[in-house]
Amino acid sequence: MERRQFLAGVSATAAIAGICAAPQPGIGMPATLPGATSPGERLSLDYGWRFWPGDVPFPEILTADQAYDNAKAGNATGAAATNFDDSQWSTVELPHDFALEQAYDPAANRAQGYRPRGVGWYRRTLALDPMDKGKHLELGFDGIATHATVWINGNLVHRNFSGYTSFHIDITPFATFGEDLNTIVVRADATAMEGWWYEGAGIYRHVWLVKRAPTHIATDGLYAAPEKLADGSWRVWIEAEIANPDGPGGDVELDVILFDSAGRPAGMSSVTAALAGGNGTVARTSLSLPAPQLWSVEEPALYRARAELRRAGTTIDVAETRFGFRTAQFDADRGFLLNGRPVKIKGVCLHQDHAGVGVAVPDALWEYRLRRIKAMGANAIRCSHNAPASELLDAADRLGVLVMDENRNFNVSEDYLPQLSWMVRRDRNHPSIILWSVFNEESTQGTEAGVKMVRRMVQAVKALDRTRPVTAAMNGSMFTAANVSQVVDVVGFNYQQENYDRFHAENPRLPMTSSEDTSAYMTRGERLTDRARHAIGCYDDPADSDGRSQRTSWKMIAERPFVAGGFVWTGFDYRGEPAPFDWPTASSSFGLMDLCGFPKASCHMREAMWRTDAPVLHISPHWTWPGLEGQPIKVMVLTNAEEAALLLNGKLISRRRVDPFDMVSWDVPYAPGRLEAVAFRGGKAVAHTRLETTGMPVRLRLTPDRPMLDGDGRDAQPIMVEALDAAGRPVPTAAAMVRFEVEGGRIIGLGNGDANSHEPDKGNRRSLYNGLAQVIVQTDRGGSGLLRVRASAAGLEPAAAVIAIRPAAAPPFAAPSPSVQRLDDWRTSPPTDSKPDPTRPVTEVDLKDWGWTSPGASQAPLSGGRYVLFRTRFRPRRDVRERGGKLVFGSLAGRAEIWLDDHRIHAKTDPAAARLAFDLPPGEHQYRLVVLFDAPPQSGRFGLAQAVKLHAE
Ligand code: GAL
Repeated sequence: MERRQFLAGVSATAAIAGICAAPQPGIGMPATLPGATSPGERLSLDYGWRFWPGDVPFPEILTADQAYDNAKAGNATGAAATNFDDSQWSTVELPHDFALEQAYDPAANRAQGYRPRGVGWYRRTLALDPMDKGKHLELGFDGIATHATVWINGNLVHRNFSGYTSFHIDITPFATFGEDLNTIVVRADATAMEGWWYEGAGIYRHVWLVKRAPTHIATDGLYAAPEKLADGSWRVWIEAEIANPDGPGGDVELDVILFDSAGRPAGMSSVTAALAGGNGTVARTSLSLPAPQLWSVEEPALYRARAELRRAGTTIDVAETRFGFRTAQFDADRGFLLNGRPVKIKGVCLHQDHAGVGVAVPDALWEYRLRRIKAMGANAIRCSHNAPASELLDAADRLGVLVMDENRNFNVSEDYLPQLSWMVRRDRNHPSIILWSVFNEESTQGTEAGVKMVRRMVQAVKALDRTRPVTAAMNGSMFTAANVSQVVDVVGFNYQQENYDRFHAENPRLPMTSSEDTSAYMTRGERLTDRARHAIGCYDDPADSDGRSQRTSWKMIAERPFVAGGFVWTGFDYRGEPAPFDWPTASSSFGLMDLCGFPKASCHMREAMWRTDAPVLHISPHWTWPGLEGQPIKVMVLTNAEEAALLLNGKLISRRRVDPFDMVSWDVPYAPGRLEAVAFRGGKAVAHTRLETTGMPVRLRLTPDRPMLDGDGRDAQPIMVEALDAAGRPVPTAAAMVRFEVEGGRIIGLGNGDANSHEPDKGNRRSLYNGLAQVIVQTDRGGSGLLRVRASAAGLEPAAAVIAIRPAAAPPFAAPSPSVQRLDDWRTSPPTDSKPDPTRPVTEVDLKDWGWTSPGASQAPLSGGRYVLFRTRFRPRRDVRERGGKLVFGSLAGRAEIWLDDHRIHAKTDPAAARLAFDLPPGEHQYRLVVLFDAPPQSGRFGLAQAVKLHAE
C-alpha cells in the first residue's frame, strides 16, 4: 500500500498551483538594492524611538466639535496625535524589551517570569526626501509584543494581534515629505498574553522602511521552490508576486538569476507579465539545474535567486531570496530522510529569550545559540510555540540546522488564520524548515471541531507551500474516534512515549515524530537536588512522578526507527515557567543549557547520546567539594565510547562497560586531587579527560565568544566570565560579584544562569553563579579599533578582554529627526476688503464661516477681498515651557503681520517667501498666533509654504 510521504518538491503543477508569493526580509533583500536606477531601498528604523513605559489614556471626547474632529482622518488624539508632547519620553533603540526593565514582582504572573508587563508607547519622526514622492513606501514591523496599534500622521493604520507575526503597512497614501515630518506611533499592549512563558514586551524585533517603485515585487513575494525530478535533475519553480497599487498598466519583464553557494551564476530565466493599471499579478517561471550542490546538515549549501523587474528595459525593482536544494521526506517506517538518507532528528525546543536581553535578541546571538546547539550534536530546533525572528531561520540555513516552524494561535477565524499564512509565506524559502506545526497541545485535538480547524489550517499551508508536511503537537487523544492525527501529514507526539508502539501499530502508514519530550529539570553546576534552595541536581534523576529523564526519553526515540526523532524540552532555559518551583525562582530549569548557554550535565549526556562521530567524554559533577572528604560522591562518566575507566589521583578505580543511554557511574569516596576518565573504543583508549580540585579564586578571566566584531552597531557577542585559582583552574563554586567596564562598545545585558537570581539584566554588575557569568557586548555604529572589557571583583585580580572591531557599514538606516512641535491646525477667515483686527476675539459663530488649513503650500492671491487671517492656538511642549524655544515659520510667503496674543511681533513687507524665527520665553502659557496676510488680487502667492514649528532651546 502506498505510504504517505512528503517530498521537498512535488509535481510541477501541484507545487506552484495557487501559491501566491515571497522576498525574505532579513535574508533575502539586500539593504540597498543595486543597479544604476536604484530600484529600491530598505532602511532600518531601529534608532531614534521615544518610549513611555506605561499607558497614556486617550482624552475623553466631551464636546460635539471634538466628536466631529475625532471622526476625521489624521486626527488621532492623545499620545497617538502627531503633535503629542513626547519631549519627556526616554530615547530607545530597537530591539527593545520593556518587560526586562521591570523589577521582579511576586504579584506578577509566574508564567511570565514574575515580570510586570503592561502597556508601552513608542513614537518616532521620519523625514522623507521629496525625491521619494511617487515611490511605494512601506513600514515593516518584524515583531511587537503583544498586541500593537500603529498610527501614521494621526491615522490609525494597523492593528496586530500576535506578538510573533510581522506586518507591513503601505504608508504611501499617508506619507509627507521634506520639512513635513512623518510621525509613527505604536502602542504595544503586553497586558495581552499568548503564551505561558516569558514573552517580553514592546518592539522587540526590527523595524524597516522600504522604498520601492510603484510597480514592485511584494514583500515576501518571491518564492523559489526546488523540485527533484525523476531523472535526478532539479527544477526550481519561481513565483514573484508583483504589486502595482499606484502603477500604470503594460508589460513588465521578470529576469531571474540563480547563484550557487560560491556566488557563481547558475542559471537564468525570464518571463513577461501583463499588468492592468493599479493591479498586480503573479509572474511564474522555472529553471533547470542538472546537479546542484545539495543543502544538508553537514554541508548547508545555499543558493540565491535574484529577481529583477523591468519595465521598458529599465530595472525598477530587485528582490532576492536564499534557498537550498534538498529532499526532505517523512516515512512511516524509516523516519526522516534528508536527501534520501535517514537522519534521526536530534532536536531541541526553544523559546526566544536569552540572558541579559530578554526577547530583544541581537541577530548575532541567534547564531551563537545555534552554534551551541550544534556543538552538542543536535541537528534540529523547534520554534516553540511561535514563528521566530527571520534572522534565526537565516542562521539555521547557514549552519545546517533543521527547523520545525510553529504557528502560535490555534484559531481559523479571519482574524487569526492569516497569521499562519503569513508564517508560511515569509518562511517557505528556508531549506532548514522541514515541518510546519499548526498547534501545540490544544484541548480540541481529539474532537470533530479540532479536526475541522486543523483541516482548514492544512489547506491554508498547502495553498502556499506543498513541499513540506504539516504536523500538530498532540499531547493526547490520538486514539479517540475523531482526532487531528487523521488530518496532518506527520503526527507530532508531545510526551506519551509509552504510546509510540501502539500508535504505530494502529496507524502503520502515518509518519510520526516526537514534537516534544523529556521536560527534565536540572540546575547548572548543582550536584544534589535541594528543594529548599530551589536547585535540581545533576544526575538526571526524574524530579517528578512522570519519571522522565534525558536518558530514558531519548532511548524510547533512538530505539524506534519509525519515530523520526525528538525535540527535547528545552535546549536553553528560558524565563517564566519556573516549575517545579515558584517565587523567587523566575526562570525554567528544563534547558540542556542555562539562560546564557552554559552547558549542564544534561547537555553532556545528550552530546554523548547524540554524537556518533568523534569520541565524547565528560565527568560530572565537578571535583571541588571541601568538607566532604571521605564521603561517597556519585561520579557519572558521560561518553559515547564502549568502555570507560575512572582514576582518582592516578589510581585506577575501575574500568566498566558503558550503557549508551544510562552511561556509567561510580560512587567515589571524595578525596581532593585529580579525577580522570579514559574512554575506550574497540579496546583502545580514544579519549581522556580530567577534573581537578581547585583552590580559592584569585583572579578573573574573560573569554570572548569571537575574536572580532563588526563595527556596525548591531554585532554583539557574549563573553564568558570565570574566576580562576592560583593554578589557573576555573573555580566551579565561585560566586564573586563582578563589575564591568567597556570601551569601544557597550554592555547590552548580563546573566549568570541562576534561575533564582533577581539581579538586574541591565547595568554593569553581575555575580558569578556556580563559577560563571556572561556579559553581552555590542559595538557602536561606526565602531573601529578595539572593544575592551575590564572585569573586577573584590579580592580578585581583574581581567581584561580585547575584541577587534572590523569597520563595517551599519545597515542603511533612516536617521531619526528631532521630535518638534508642529503648528498644523489653522483656521482661515473669509477674505475682507478692510483690514481686520487680529486681536478681536473670534466666536464659535464666526468660526462657522472660517476654513481649515495646514502649512505646506502657498496659495494664489485672494479674489473676493484683500485681507485674510490665519489663526491657531498652541501650548508649548514641556521642553519649550521649561527652557524656552523658537517659533519658526519654515517659509512664509506674501506680505503679512504676525501677531502673538495681542502683540504684533513682525511686519513682513517683502512679499518674497522667507524663513522667520522668533524667541519664545520659558513659562506656562497658551498662545494665540495670528498671521494677517495682505494678498489682494494680482499680488503674488502667499501663505504658510512650509511647516510652522516650535524648537526647544
Ligand atoms: C509542555 C508544553 C511546553 C511546556 C512544557 C513544560 O506540555 O508544550 O510549552 O509547558 O510542557 O514541561
